[in-house]
Amino acid sequence: MFYKFLLVIIFITLFWGETMGVEIKLEKPSLKGKLSVEEAIKDRQTIRSFKDKALSISQLSQLAWAAYGITHKGFYKTVPSAGALYPSDIFFIIGKGGVKGIEPGVYHYIPEGHLLKLILSRDKREIVARASLSQMWMMEAPIMILITVEYRRVTRKYGERGIRYAHIEAGHIGQNIFLQAESLGLSCGIVGAFYDDKIKEVLNLPKNFEPLIIMPVGYKK
Ligand SMILES: Cc1cc2nc3c(=O)[nH]c(=O)nc-3n(C[C@H](O)[C@H](O)[C@H](O)COP(=O)(O)O)c2cc1C
Repeated sequence: MFYKFLLVIIFITLFWGETMGVEIKLEKPSLKGKLSVEEAIKDRQTIRSFKDKALSISQLSQLAWAAYGITHKGFYKTVPSAGALYPSDIFFIIGKGGVKGIEPGVYHYIPEGHLLKLILSRDKREIVARASLSQMWMMEAPIMILITVEYRRVTRKYGERGIRYAHIEAGHIGQNIFLQAESLGLSCGIVGAFYDDKIKEVLNLPKNFEPLIIMPVGYKK
């Protein structure tokens, strides 16, 4: 009995221990950019080839905030949301050397507090690219941003129609990421073709979180 208990403790320490409690406080977002909104809209394109060049923590902070950060009354976010129910979550898949000063891993963005929580250690880009119908170009990007949805947050109020609302909201998040990346001198890809179950499994996502969009981000070649 004692040995069984010991084995469970060793297992937990090995597989979850290194991620427990690791948080990264992000930088305050900047409200001034180098590009006009019009220029960012005009320049936006889906990019599928990236330089091997790290992002800075301030670029990462800005992308997280643009995606789903809090903008007003301490609650409302950068995107519109039916009933302000905010069914999405944002995850960052950070590659080895992908962001200066940040260990590779999968991080959950927590808008209240503007911080990242480590949920999985190690570089998961290759496994994500493979789960995306082997679109191996994705793993050239130093980071990938995953948008998930928890449907019950909206279907509780709106029934089946909530599904449509959640998808519309995710589109807003994706466009914010595209435009913010342009303004930072970065580029994005966007991927909807992947095996949902595989992505959930390899990224250890909570049971009710469905992956919707994966956006590789970096400097275009
Ligand atoms: C929901 C959605 C899913 C997409 N999935 C993929 C994908 O899996 N792989 C890919 O290379 N491009 C994907 N794209 C990108 C489109 O191919 C691209 O947006 C389109 O060719 C228009 O080009 P542009 O974005 O450069 O204007 C997707 C775009 C959207 C909106």
